Amino acid sequence: MVRINLPKKEVNTFYNAADTMPEEEYCSGLACYVSRNLKKEFWKKAMAQRPRTYCLGKCYSSPSSSSTHEKPIIEVRSRKSVIGRYLLKGELTLKDYISLGGFKALEYALTSLSKRNIIKEVEKSYLRGRGGGGFPTGKKWLLAYNQKETERYLIVNGDEGDPGAYVDRFIMEYSPFLPIEGALIAAHAIGAQKVYFYIRREYPRSVARVREAVKSMASFLKYKLPKIVVVVGKGSYVVGEETALINALMGRRPEPVFKPPYPTERGLYGKPTVVNNVETLSNIPYIISNGGKEYYELGFSKSRGTKLVSLNSLFKRPGIYEFEFGVPLKEIVSTGGGLKRGKVAGLLIGAPLSGVVRPEEFDTRLGYEELEEIGSSLGHGNIIAFNEESPPGEILREIVSFLSYESCGKCTPCRLGTKKLEGILSKGYILRDELEEVYDIAHTLVSSSLCGLGIGAGRVVLSFLSKYRRVIVHEG
Ligand SMILES: Cc1cc2nc3c(=O)[nH]c(=O)nc-3n(C[C@H](O)[C@H](O)[C@H](O)COP(=O)(O)O)c2cc1C
Ligand code: SF4
Repeated sequence: MVRINLPKKEVNTFYNAADTMPEEEYCSGLACYVSRNLKKEFWKKAMAQRPRTYCLGKCYSSPSSSSTHEKPIIEVRSRKSVIGRYLLKGELTLKDYISLGGFKALEYALTSLSKRNIIKEVEKSYLRGRGGGGFPTGKKWLLAYNQKETERYLIVNGDEGDPGAYVDRFIMEYSPFLPIEGALIAAHAIGAQKVYFYIRREYPRSVARVREAVKSMASFLKYKLPKIVVVVGKGSYVVGEETALINALMGRRPEPVFKPPYPTERGLYGKPTVVNNVETLSNIPYIISNGGKEYYELGFSKSRGTKLVSLNSLFKRPGIYEFEFGVPLKEIVSTGGGLKRGKVAGLLIGAPLSGVVRPEEFDTRLGYEELEEIGSSLGHGNIIAFNEESPPGEILREIVSFLSYESCGKCTPCRLGTKKLEGILSKGYILRDELEEVYDIAHTLVSSSLCGLGIGAGRVVLSFLSKYRRVIVHEG
């Protein structure tokens, strides 16, 4: 197929923040919405700001702006710490990282393991993608490894745009060497010659820290390693979707592309490409140093190892906690210490492409399948508690308005469907007369959208209606 690339100026019209943004940016994200009464003036400013800013990764201190400088609580709550221990002391230097055992796994992988055996360890660990999809990482690497084409790429996805999510941000700021070490092991195992590290523009400190880390390592590592190129986003949520991200890196409009073929077969420049999330890759040094079996012993069911979860600012103790999979949701909520205002009326886990969780479901254990069973999903491990000040219909309005704003418009159900839902929900509830149309749009989004944004938009509407229908639907 002949493809005409658009000039950069035209591609830039896709993005929300390719041109100038206000000097002080106020976040319009969902975590800021549910905590709007903590700092009313911030939320007012966010609502007035154009273009909107979604989301600054400061959900532990929301509503937030670019000059919010507080830091989250960071605690390890698992039997063994895979990632959290690197985050406890704030920003690490290369020397600090090495003193914690950093780069030993890379050295071991380069000198003592074959590429296939590295992948075998990752398969044994049953590590699954932390970027939302939960695909087994070892299996993904093997798909790329098995390709005939020898030109290959690795992409680190640091676009973390989900509201309430800030784990990747603090991994990149506090311990950028950890995902870099994981990425270098991954690139070596799959035979990639180049690594692209894509970071959202809303995380300027992450960009600076990853760039510094790449520079400082150059003189330290004596091995011939793939080049790492850091690329900064321009404000788009859908660009986090892997095929959109690949388009972005090629200078095209970052619209998702139909799969298959999957990126492991035809990705960047049509070559085999592995896209992995920042947190996923940060698990790799532990797996290589300790063996996949030891990692597998943490966690439960089909969710192995540990997961960093981030709690929003309505909690009394908002922050990043490392838990083993299998911890009941009620334990996570109690770790957060209850709410600063009101009582927990529900949780949004993995928002916005996920469902809502009611307090009656808090016995559910943290796990990919377990959350799916209650109509939710793990997402990035972003947990947003809301209280009675945020009625479910209004929360749904905020989610749908965000997804309509961020829809790339490539496919009709999502382009028109999210706009229509936004209009209906703008009043914060659904009239009984509108219900049939809402169901119709939601089912169409789920069954015929091209990417997870449209599918997730349909799912979230269905989840809210199945759990809060009586309060969302008004007689008129
Ligand atoms: C709308 C949308 C946005 C996404 N945003 C991100 C993101 O910011 N970071 C991320 O790692 N994955 C994101 N994903 C998932 C990626 O497409 C992909 O599954 C992931 O980067 C693969 O890495 P993993 O296997 O390590 O999870 C997004 C998916 C969708 C549908
Ligand atoms: S589902 Fe929405 S965001 Fe995804 S490709 Fe279609 S229009 Fe774009």
